[in-house]
Amino acid sequence: MSAPSSPPKPTGLHDQAAPGPGTAEGQSGGVTSDRDAHDPENTEPEEPIIASAASSTAPSSHIEPDTWTDDDEAYSGSTNTSYLSSIASDVRRGVIENGRTYGVYGITKAWIPSDDLEMERNDLQHCKFTMLMNDELHLAPIIDHPQKILDLGTGSGIWAMDIADQYPSAKVIGVDKAPVQPTMIPSNLTFELDDIEDEWLWGESSFDFIHGRELIMAIQDWPRLIRQAHDHLKPGAYLQLGGSVPDFRSDDDTLPQDSAYMEMGRIYLEMSARVNLSGLEPTKWKRYLEEAGFEDVVERILKIPTNPWPRDPYLKKIGAFELHHFRESIANVFARGYEQILGGDPTYFQVLLARARKEVSNPNMHSWVPFYVVYGRRPGNSMPAEKEKSATPPQT
Ligand SMILES: C[S@@+](CC[C@H](N)C(=O)[O-])C[C@H]1O[C@@H](n2cnc3c(N)ncnc32)[C@H](O)[C@@H]1O
Repeated sequence: MSAPSSPPKPTGLHDQAAPGPGTAEGQSGGVTSDRDAHDPENTEPEEPIIASAASSTAPSSHIEPDTWTDDDEAYSGSTNTSYLSSIASDVRRGVIENGRTYGVYGITKAWIPSDDLEMERNDLQHCKFTMLMNDELHLAPIIDHPQKILDLGTGSGIWAMDIADQYPSAKVIGVDKAPVQPTMIPSNLTFELDDIEDEWLWGESSFDFIHGRELIMAIQDWPRLIRQAHDHLKPGAYLQLGGSVPDFRSDDDTLPQDSAYMEMGRIYLEMSARVNLSGLEPTKWKRYLEEAGFEDVVERILKIPTNPWPRDPYLKKIGAFELHHFRESIANVFARGYEQILGGDPTYFQVLLARARKEVSNPNMHSWVPFYVVYGRRPGNSMPAEKEKSATPPQT
């Protein structure tokens, strides 16, 4: 499955080139862009730049807001996945609370549902994140013909399915503690039920690429997870993590600090911190990777517009995805945590949510959500180019 077709995409991201082995991106500092010196009167179409220079700690550059018209709201719906593979029935059924199903397997209690609605959300998010990365499934400069790829917390499995299609040379494993993946999948993909915070049973030094995206309210010990990933990568292979942080921002003070929308972000961060699953962890991934021994660690902070406020049609579409995501799905995802972790009043939450939905729909609020993409390479030589080109299909 692929992301739906989309308007012409920006070229800024890959023009700035993901680093190759041996580059010194890990040391570089902030982000610079011509767009920072933006002229608000300039009506020439601009090439949007959604990713920052390598290894930045500052988010990607200024996004030009559009003059809003009602016609700009069109966006694609989600794709659907079928439901459930056959593993033990109690694990498969999960537990139902307030009409949502939650997984029961694993060390940490599930705060995010794992049902059809959540799988739809995963698929929609996949379209958004893929667009955000310039229609790429990864930014890490992995080898052309990987043999083994691992997707951590694969959810609906849509990234794993797409990467399996992109790299037919690879045997892809998607692992999740909820058995919610479809059964109609590429032949080089398998799904496994496991808790990735447990001891990994795959062979050490066996993967060419390990990927984990949007593991929200999920991981207690990121440094340990990252160390395990390090040890299970082949020398020269890459780990890439991606995740949004609801630390909403705007570059032009159009996002009121006392808005209900900001309050929703604070609630999420407080809730996640209380159960030791801090939503701010993506901001520390770069350090964790470096401490685990990864080389050439790159951090990119991509801006997700929170509604279709940008002028650029590509970013406008990403904003439409994000608006739909906020209005239709994300808040309900946190209902369990709000009541059970914070002891919050569901009525207050619904009122706040109604206000936040209204606010975030306002195209004059030029807010954005940071999406962190961090990747690094396990030290050691990757497969030499010549040899790698003649790599055989995966050994099963
Ligand atoms: C928000 S979904 C993201 C799905 C997918 N990575 C994506 O980006 O489309 C997070 C997934 O991580 C899974 N998960 C959370 N903690 C996990 C753990 N400790 N071990 C395995 N899977 C986990 C959840 O069951 C859920 O399917």
